[in-house]
Amino acid sequence: MDNQELSEKFQRFVDAENKVEAKDWMPEGYRKTLVRQIAQHAHSEIIGMLPEGNWITRAPSLRRKAILLAKIQDEAGHGLYLYGSAETLGVERAAMVNELLSGKSKYSSIFNYPTLSWADIGTIGWLVDGAAIVNQVSLQRTSYGPYSRAMIRICKEESFHQRQGYEIMIALSNGTAAQKSMAQDALNRWWWPSLMMFGPSDATSEHSAQNMKWKIKRHSNDELRQKFVDMTVPQAEYLGLTIPDKNLRWNKERGHYDFGEIDWEEFNQVVRGNGPCNKERLEARKNAHDNGRWVREAAMAYAKKQSAKNILKTA
Ligand SMILES: [Fe+2]
Ligand SMILES: [Fe+2]
Repeated sequence: MDNQELSEKFQRFVDAENKVEAKDWMPEGYRKTLVRQIAQHAHSEIIGMLPEGNWITRAPSLRRKAILLAKIQDEAGHGLYLYGSAETLGVERAAMVNELLSGKSKYSSIFNYPTLSWADIGTIGWLVDGAAIVNQVSLQRTSYGPYSRAMIRICKEESFHQRQGYEIMIALSNGTAAQKSMAQDALNRWWWPSLMMFGPSDATSEHSAQNMKWKIKRHSNDELRQKFVDMTVPQAEYLGLTIPDKNLRWNKERGHYDFGEIDWEEFNQVVRGNGPCNKERLEARKNAHDNGRWVREAAMAYAKKQSAKNILKTA
C-alpha cells in the first residue's frame, strides 16, 4: 500500500471510533501533532506545580497543607503518565524535557501568573483545574489509545482538585469581609487567564480542522470555553462572588451565557514569554533539573548494575 492508501485506511479506522495504538501505522502529521500536544500537556502538569508549591509552607492549617501537598503530588503523577504516553510515539523523555528547558516547547500560559494570596490556591483549584477537566473529559475520547487512557485516570483526580479549590472558596466566601474580598480579588485576576486556557478561537487555527478530523480533538476550543463558562457562573453565584465581566449574561435563545471579548494580545504576550512569571518558572524548573542530576545518575547506575547481575544469573 502506498502512503495515500494507508492514510485513507487510517482515516476509516479513526472514523469507526477505533483507538490507534503505539505500533499501528499512523500519518507522520498525526504522530507529530500528538507528540507536541502530549509533551506540552506533560510540561503543563509539571510547571503547574510551581505556583501552588509557593504556598505549601504558608497553608493556613495542617489539614490544608496535607491536601495541597497531595494535590501537587497528583500533578507530578499526571506529568509522568503523559511523558510515558508521549514516549510510546517514539520520542525520549529527556528530549522532551530539554525542549521545555530551552524554551522550545510550550506549557499552558496560565502557570505564568503569580499566586499572591491563599485565595489564589482556592481559585486555581476551582477555575484552573475546572477548565482542565472540561478539556480533559473531552480528551478521554481522543483517538490515540495511550493518551486517552492516561486522560481517564487523570480526570478522576482532577475532579478532586476542583472540589478542594472550591471548598477553599466556600470557606473564604463565608468568612470575614477581608477573606471574602481576598476571594473576590483572586477571582478578578484568574478569570480571564482561565478562559484563555482553551486557546484561541478555532476560526483562527488551521490545525484545528485536521485535528478534529483525526479525532485527536473532539470539541472546538470555543465549545469547551462556553461549557466552562456555563458551568462556572452558577458556582460563582453560589459563592456570592462577581465574575469580572460586564458583558456576562444569560442568553435565553442560545441557552448559554454570553461573555465579553478575551484580550488575545495579553495571551500572545504570555505565550511569547513575556508573562509576569515566565522567567521565574523556567528558572525554577532548570534548577530542579540540575539539582536532580545526581538522582538520575544514581538510578541509571543502579539499573545498569541490576541488569548486569541478571545477565550473569541467566548465563
Ligand atoms: Fe493535572
Ligand atoms: Fe489538577
